[in-house]
Amino acid sequence: MTAPKRLAILGSTGSIGRSTLEVVTRFPGCFVVDVLAAHSSVERLLAQIRAHHPRVVAVADPQAAQALQQRLRAWKKAPQVWSGPEGIRRAAVYPTAQLVVSAMVGQAGLLPTWDAIRAGKDIALANKETLVVAGELIMREVKRRRVRLLPVDSEHAALAQCLKGHDGVEVRRLILTASGGPFREVPASRLQRMRAADALRHPTWSMGPKITVDSSTLMNKGLEVIEAHHLFNMDFKRIEVTIHPQSVVHSLVEFVDGSTLAQLASPDMRLPIQAALTHPAYAPALVKPLDFRHGLTLTFGAPDVKRFPCLGLAYAAGRKGGSAPAVLNAANEVAVGAFLRGRLGFMEIPGLIRAVLARHREKGPLTLERVLAQDAWARKISEEMLACKPCK
Ligand SMILES: NC(=O)c1ccc[n+]([C@@H]2O[C@H](COP(=O)([O-])OP(=O)(O)OC[C@H]3O[C@@H](n4cnc5c(N)ncnc54)[C@H](OP(=O)(O)O)[C@@H]3O)[C@@H](O)[C@H]2O)c1
Repeated sequence: MTAPKRLAILGSTGSIGRSTLEVVTRFPGCFVVDVLAAHSSVERLLAQIRAHHPRVVAVADPQAAQALQQRLRAWKKAPQVWSGPEGIRRAAVYPTAQLVVSAMVGQAGLLPTWDAIRAGKDIALANKETLVVAGELIMREVKRRRVRLLPVDSEHAALAQCLKGHDGVEVRRLILTASGGPFREVPASRLQRMRAADALRHPTWSMGPKITVDSSTLMNKGLEVIEAHHLFNMDFKRIEVTIHPQSVVHSLVEFVDGSTLAQLASPDMRLPIQAALTHPAYAPALVKPLDFRHGLTLTFGAPDVKRFPCLGLAYAAGRKGGSAPAVLNAANEVAVGAFLRGRLGFMEIPGLIRAVLARHREKGPLTLERVLAQDAWARKISEEMLACKPCK
């Protein structure tokens, strides 16, 4: 019998974090949860502590950490509670954890993931922003520390599966599928009227609010293009996006001989999570396989970059490289936050990002400090621009 794999789950209370714990529950004896980490969801953390008995729980919000500690006072075997962003970073390098599930949302996931890599932990990466913001630096550390970086994003998990056993020279293109989001068929004239509640009604995936809005603008696909560039060391010219509303084909690899491999599965994040957790083994299906007996309609088409300019902005920032993707990501996080609060219209999201990127100047060599400084600059400029709306 092999020893169970020991996990640290960063972002355990979110959509990916909860699905990860579901996978853990479905494989009794295979995993031990040493660490849970979240921002402030105390009730959810309490339920997860009861079910999984972690040694440490890290809570980014100090008040929520205090509230959790209070609630755990009477417990006999309560976990340690670590507080603040520093607590999250300590939790990411918890000595016994072997695999860190990086599932916090946004740029906040970068430093804990960075620390975990440098501590030699394998990473199951859902937090795509980590690779968008600092892909070059992260991939260098991954190689240097010889850790495994296992993609949890369904598209990248699919690409990794299709690429197994093939080397770079055999591959012509990577093709990422996109559902097209809830506004796929909404005409340009009506897009500006779309509100957060409309954007949050995703047709095929159930996800956290930030990525759901990113899906509606196609920024999510743009971030994934940059993620694929780093993960698979592929030039942007050779990464394409196709709109596939059924979300059954999770991505495709085209080879130089003209053949194409695709990975098909139900749209359920538990599959790529399971693949990352059980890597390199294939475990019995948790997700029901597709049933082809009753027919299956699969359609594909080009993305409309005029109605959804965020995809083009992401390609441009990715090609520019340096800290441009970090600036793109920071402006997007501010814009999405403002859209969710009703402070920014749907079509003003790309407007704000474009305006911030236009003011971005590269300063010096790429280091983690430089990237973080550019991220802070972009957030500040974005907030200033928001304060003097409308943004053009
Ligand atoms: N959901 C999907 O299907 C999916 C698919 C592919 C990739 N991803 C990626 O996975 C990541 C997570 O997405 P999600 O949909 O699971 O998001 P989500 O449901 O919004 O959950 C976010 C998680 O991060 C925690 N968190 C937020 N800010 C934090 C901070 N500053 N410090 C510590 N923890 C923090 C939240 O804690 P609280 O609950 O306490 O706020 C929560 O546990 C994103 O990068 C997303 O792009 C998601």
